[in-house]
Amino acid sequence: MKLIVGNLKMYFDGSEIKNYLDNLIRDDNVVVCPSSIHIPYFLNKNINVGLQDVSMYEKGSFTGEVSALQGVNIGVTYALIGHYETRKYNDNKIINLKIKNALKHNMTVMLCVGETLDEKNNNLTLDVIKKQLNECLDGINGKVIIVYEPIWSIGSGLIPTNEEIKNIINFIKENYNYKVLYGGSVNLQNIDTLNKVSNIDGFLVGFSASKVDEFNEIIKEVNKIWCFSTGFDKTR
Ligand code: PGA
Repeated sequence: MKLIVGNLKMYFDGSEIKNYLDNLIRDDNVVVCPSSIHIPYFLNKNINVGLQDVSMYEKGSFTGEVSALQGVNIGVTYALIGHYETRKYNDNKIINLKIKNALKHNMTVMLCVGETLDEKNNNLTLDVIKKQLNECLDGINGKVIIVYEPIWSIGSGLIPTNEEIKNIINFIKENYNYKVLYGGSVNLQNIDTLNKVSNIDGFLVGFSASKVDEFNEIIKEVNKIWCFSTGFDKTR
C-alpha cells in the first residue's frame, strides 16, 4: 500500500477548513499536514495528522516554533522535515537535530530531499541527494520515510520522467534502505503516469491536496493500483 501525504502549506483560512474536513475521504494511508494553527480541527476525525515542520528544540523560549513534543501531546504522529520551503532557513545540521527530536517522541519523519534545476542540469542530482541524506540522517535510526522532491518541480507543473524518478528512488533504497515517496506537482492529470513507477512508496501532494475533490480523486487513483496489499508498512 502507498502512503499519500497532503501538504496543506498555508492555503486555508479557518472558514475553509470545515468544508475540507466534511469532504475529505477517510483513508488510513493518507496523512494530512495542515497549518499548525489548524491542527486541532483535524484531530479525532480519523485522519492521520502531520506537522509541516518541527523545532530542533523541545521546549523553551523559541518564539513561533512548534516542537515534536507539543505535537505528540495532542495526537500528531507524523512530521514533515526539510521541506524546501522550510529548508531555505535551515542547514542539514539543524534538520538532523529536528529529525532526532521528532524520533525521540516516536513520530514518523518524512524527510524531503531534492535538487535545484541548475544542479539537475549539471548532473549533480545524486551528489546533492547523497549529501543531504548523509548529513540529515547522521546518527539516525528510526521511523523515517524519504520524500524525493525536486525543488524545480514544486509548484511548477514540471515533473521528472518516470525513469529519472525510478533511478533516484533506487539509489536511495540501495544506499539508505528507506521507503521513498515522490513529491512535486503531483496532480490528477499526472498521477496515472507517476503510479507506473514501480518502486515508489507513495506521494507528497501540495497544491492539488488543497482542492479536496482533486485530492480525493488522487487517493482513489493511487488505491486503484495498489489496493492488493493492506496498510502502509512504516518499517524498513
Ligand atoms: P506541489 O507542492 O504539489 O504544489 O508542487 C508539493 C510540496 O511542496 O510538497
